[in-house]
Amino acid sequence: MPLKITVRSAQPVKESGDVIVVAVNTLSGGSKKKKDRSPLDGFDRALGGALVKRFRKDDFKGKKDQSVGISTLGKVKADRLIVCGLGDAAALRGPDVRVFGAKAARAANTEKAKRLVVGIPASAEPFMRELVEGLELGAYRFTKYVTGDRRPKAELASVTICVADKPDATVKARVDAGQAMAAGVNLARDLSNEPPNVLYPEALGEAARAVAKEHGLKCVVLDFKKIQEKGMKLIQAVGQGSERKPCLIHMSWTPPKPKKKLIFVGKGITFDSGGLSIKPAAGMGDMKHDMSGAANVVGLMAAIGALKPDVEVHGIVAAAENMPDGGAYRPGDVWGSLDGRSVEIINTDAEGRLVLADALAYARELGPDLLVDNATLTGACMVGLGTTCSGWYANNEETAEMFAAAAKATGENMWRLPLLEELKDQLKSDCADIKHTGDRYGGSITAALFLREFIGSVGAWVHCDIAGPSTSDRARGWDGKGATGHGVLTFYELVDGASRA
Ligand code: BES
Ligand code: MN
Ligand code: ZN
Repeated sequence: MPLKITVRSAQPVKESGDVIVVAVNTLSGGSKKKKDRSPLDGFDRALGGALVKRFRKDDFKGKKDQSVGISTLGKVKADRLIVCGLGDAAALRGPDVRVFGAKAARAANTEKAKRLVVGIPASAEPFMRELVEGLELGAYRFTKYVTGDRRPKAELASVTICVADKPDATVKARVDAGQAMAAGVNLARDLSNEPPNVLYPEALGEAARAVAKEHGLKCVVLDFKKIQEKGMKLIQAVGQGSERKPCLIHMSWTPPKPKKKLIFVGKGITFDSGGLSIKPAAGMGDMKHDMSGAANVVGLMAAIGALKPDVEVHGIVAAAENMPDGGAYRPGDVWGSLDGRSVEIINTDAEGRLVLADALAYARELGPDLLVDNATLTGACMVGLGTTCSGWYANNEETAEMFAAAAKATGENMWRLPLLEELKDQLKSDCADIKHTGDRYGGSITAALFLREFIGSVGAWVHCDIAGPSTSDRARGWDGKGATGHGVLTFYELVDGASRA
């Protein structure tokens, strides 16, 4: 459920709620002019001087990432006051405000609050959209399958955001955009968190259809028969060892006068057992998240459908379950591909790049100005970058600059990795055109090099390896670092950038 968000010209100290969270810029230390309003005004007096005392004790100066919490003992109309530092006003950026919003919502959840009051300084007001995104992302929990006492005692339902001036239409639009964007990210997280017995390839197709119906997007789902007819042999190979057959999902949004055409492709392995090259038992359950790239694409398309940019956007998902039955593909197999080339199978656990190869070959026929794929592709990427950061690759510098700018604007942790040409030799096969894995070292890079083989003449391509953030954070609220849904904000920023161009 989205939060009920109200923005009004008010002083936080006079508002009532379960928790009040106030953001301040670096405190000026007494040299305050009368006209400088602060969302903290009135609190110290109401609390009988306890707040300033507390600031001194904790050395709280309003610096970025500093925060203090204090019980109000009924002296204001909320049980608890939390003050968060935002640092200097001049340096404040959207991502800082988004993280603040998330912190506020997480604090509210910790306090079992239903009603939250948020106060922000004037410097944060232009970032209302980011604030709302942070609130919605921070409030997120995945509680669908817990019952009885395990259910959360309270759920954050409403947020009052106090600002200096009466909010105008721009503010309202920013709130709506923030909620639409966050709903997309949270949908991606819901899909990623669904267990694999519930969310199998066809169920993912149904989820995409439902999103398309709600937002007026086009959605075509190619079933197993169609996949075989079209010659998507790599998706077939990966998916045929499961009772749950694979499908290819193609969602699209076409505005009246599109400025550009962007395509986003996602790996949709609804469960990755490894296939015959079966994974060890420890941690196998995390592989329910192996469709996080696909979830991102569906979540992004939901945001696109709600925000309706002047850009043609396609979302393509290769969905399959990687299982080891008697019909499963094997190491040693040679399979064709939609692209026409033959691929020698080395390890059935390197399935993601195979389904993506066919999806990329399908996508390139649509003639995109920019093609972005995202996938929980390699453990190697996670070993390199940890669990809060994604790795990404671009096929030229201009594209890389564009992507880096988008990631910087959203503050998502995404680190560029190099397409080292000298590692390409690892993909040479004795019996087929190419093999799909290299040796142990540089595993994320060789996977990216393999994918690049299937983009044809597409000029601008980015591959994101989102393995770390997607499989580690699960249902925890967003804290500005890793979490499922990671990447969606940046992808939308690319679309937004194309609509401004
Ligand atoms: N889905 C995994 C990658 C993965 C592992 C993501 C752990 C998140 C957490 C992928 O399909 C895989 O199994 N990759 C192999 C490739 C190897 C066999 C070349 C890997 O990374 O070990
Ligand atoms: Mn695998
Ligand atoms: Zn996988």
